[in-house]
Amino acid sequence: MAVRFELVTTDPTGARAGVLHTRRGSFPTPMFMPVATHAAFRHLGTEEVWETGSRILLANTYHLMLRPGADVFRKFGGIHPFMQWDGAILTDSGGFQIFSLPEDRLITEKGAQFRSFYDNSRQMLSPETSIAMQQAINSEIMMVLDVCIDSRTDEAGTREAMERTHRWAVRSLAAKDKVPTGQALFGIVQGGVHPRLRDESAAFLTQLPFDGFAIGGLAVGETKEERETMTVRATASLPTDKPRYLMGVGTPTDLLEAVMRGVDMFDCIIPTKMAQQGYAYTFEGLVRITRMVYRLDDAPLDAACDCLVCKRYTRGYLQHLMRGKHHLGSRMLSIHNVRHYQKLMGKLREAILQGSYAQTYRELKAAIAPPKD
Ligand code: GUN
Ligand code: ZN
Repeated sequence: MAVRFELVTTDPTGARAGVLHTRRGSFPTPMFMPVATHAAFRHLGTEEVWETGSRILLANTYHLMLRPGADVFRKFGGIHPFMQWDGAILTDSGGFQIFSLPEDRLITEKGAQFRSFYDNSRQMLSPETSIAMQQAINSEIMMVLDVCIDSRTDEAGTREAMERTHRWAVRSLAAKDKVPTGQALFGIVQGGVHPRLRDESAAFLTQLPFDGFAIGGLAVGETKEERETMTVRATASLPTDKPRYLMGVGTPTDLLEAVMRGVDMFDCIIPTKMAQQGYAYTFEGLVRITRMVYRLDDAPLDAACDCLVCKRYTRGYLQHLMRGKHHLGSRMLSIHNVRHYQKLMGKLREAILQGSYAQTYRELKAAIAPPKD
C-alpha cells in the first residue's frame, strides 16, 4: 500500500490520533497541510515552512499543468527536488478549479476542456490527464478529479454531479493502476448539503480500493451548521482504518470542530491569507496587529509561541511593517500563523491521546472563538 494509516487512539468524543505512513516519512495526525498551490508558498520560502514543523504540503495539479507544465517536472524528477521540499506532498486534482473557470470551458463526461489563462492554449483535464500530471509531479498522495458544484444546487443537480464524480473516481483508479508508481490515491465524497447523497457517496467510494477519503464540496457557500452536519454524515460512513481529509477547511475553530467529528487531515490558505490582512492567531484569540494599541508594544506577538518571529520581534515592529505594507510583515505573520496551526494540531493530538478532547475543546473554543476586537 502506498500510504498506511495507523489509528493510535479514538477519544470518547470521536476525535482520532493516528500516524500516516508515507514513502517520505511518517506523520502524526490530526495534521495540517500548508498550501503551496504553484509549488511555492505565499510569502514563505521552503525552509521557513519546514521550520514551522509542517511536513506535508498541498500543491495543485491544475495550476502546475499550466505552468510550469509536466515536462518540467519530468526533467527535474518531480516536485520535491524542484522546490527542494524534503517532506511529503499531496496534490489536489484540479476538480475544484475547473468549476470556477470562465464561461468558455466545456465540461463533458470525458472531462473539462478549457483554454490556458497564460497562453490561450487548448487544455484538457480529465480523470486520466489529472492522474498523469500528478504522476509527473510525483506527489505522495494524489486526489481523484471530482465535480464541484455550488452548495445551493438542488438535489437533482447535486445527484448528477455526484454520480459523475463516482464514474470519474473509477476511471482515476484505473488510470493509476496503468502506471504503478507507488503513489496513493484518495477518493472524494461529494453530495452537497443533502444527507442522503453524502451517505450514498461514501457508500459507493468506500467499496473501491482507495488509500484514503476526502470530504469535498464544503466551504463553498453552505452554513457552518450544514458543514458540520455533512462532516459527521460523511465520517460516519468512512472506514476507521483509512485517513479522512476535509478539503479546504478552515479556521482554528473549524479544525477544533472537525477533529471532534473524526477528521484527520486539513489544508487551508486561511493562516497565510489572514496574515496578509494583519491577523495573527494565538491561543488567547485573534490579534489584529494594526490596532494602534500595539504601536509602542515591545512584547512578542505571542509570548507562548516558539516561532522564528515571536522569538525575536516585537508587536511594535510588526505593526510598523504591516502599516507600511511591507511584504516582510505578511511573511512574518505567515510564519507565526502556520506555526500556530501546527501547535494547535499538536495540542489536539495530545488531548486525544490523554482521552481529554472534550475538555480541551471547551477551553480552546472559549479562548479562541471571539475575535479580540
Ligand atoms: N478543495 C476544497 N474543496 C474541494 C473539493 O470538493 N474538491 C477538490 N478537488 N478540491 C477541493
Ligand atoms: Zn509565533
